[in-house]
Amino acid sequence: MSGKVVAVAGATGLVGTRMLETLVERNFPVKQLKLLASERSRGKFLAFRGEQIPVEVLDENSFKGVDIALFSAGGGTSKKFSPIAARAGCVVIDNSSAWRMDPKVPLVVPEVNAEAAKHHEGIIANPNCSTIQLVCVLKPLHDAATILRVVVSTYQAVSGAGVNALEELMAQTRAVLEGRTPECKIFPHPIAFNCIPQIPQGDAFDKNGYTTEEIKMINETKKIMGDDSIRLTATTVRVPVHTGHSESVNVETKEKLTADRAREILSRAPGVVVQDDPARQLYPLAVNAAGKGDTYVGRIREDLSHPSALDMWIVSDNLLKGAAYNAVQIAELL
Ligand code: A2P
Repeated sequence: MSGKVVAVAGATGLVGTRMLETLVERNFPVKQLKLLASERSRGKFLAFRGEQIPVEVLDENSFKGVDIALFSAGGGTSKKFSPIAARAGCVVIDNSSAWRMDPKVPLVVPEVNAEAAKHHEGIIANPNCSTIQLVCVLKPLHDAATILRVVVSTYQAVSGAGVNALEELMAQTRAVLEGRTPECKIFPHPIAFNCIPQIPQGDAFDKNGYTTEEIKMINETKKIMGDDSIRLTATTVRVPVHTGHSESVNVETKEKLTADRAREILSRAPGVVVQDDPARQLYPLAVNAAGKGDTYVGRIREDLSHPSALDMWIVSDNLLKGAAYNAVQIAELL
């Protein structure tokens, strides 16, 4: 039987389960599938192509005979097990932030820098979810008119913070509707009926007042686009949305792009769908993007305060293009 032996580390998580679905949807040639998770998942089974597959506990011996390992089990797990997996001869596609800025590790969005994947030494990093959808739109604009500066504010879904965060959103929403005080275990403040300008929820801020998510967006955009000269600033905000990150983006270019020209360029960009018809109140929405692999862009307009800048609204499924789908696309490149 031809195909690859594929392992999914973190198979029981929100992204891991999307990885399994994406492998099926994209008809990835899986000869054998290994599901890996923590001790907590011992004895569990997950369905794949109609078959019940046991979840194994991830350890040093998990990667013998594995061709491709998709990792989404947290940074600590990736840091420890990715080199072990690479030494066992498999190629790791890692969804955590552990390896993204390592100069020896390609950081890949197939629509933007597929070539970079060729130069891997056993580990390829999947970028941050907010960055992936951003660069899918920025790259074709950069190629056409040279981007000088980007100002982005994100509206990030709770599913980006994992299963427990989603449970917290649901529990807090019920509590507020029933007149009880919402309990905060994951987020530092109530997320139900609120916006929190801090991602991640833990130790987030540096000496300049930026969060690690904001710094990831700045550094990863430059690395993926292969251009250190692009200036970018970000404010990342958690909003009480289940799935689908939205971004308000201002892009300043060297050569002026009209809104019509930008729409034309983006309508030909791989993985990008223009949804932009204000007369019909058509623009990207998180609820519509959830469950889809593409990145949606709309509200494209010329910035009235600047001679050569555009405003736009970019939305994508943070668990799919922002994680699982992009990882499987990288596996397809291999
Ligand atoms: P488990 O379900 O056994 O805890 P999410 O981000 O949705 O919370 O999912 C995290 C994923 O990472 C889960 O599949 C989880 O497995 C897995 N995971 C977390 N810590 C470890 C670990 N130390 N070893 C292996 N898998 C882990």
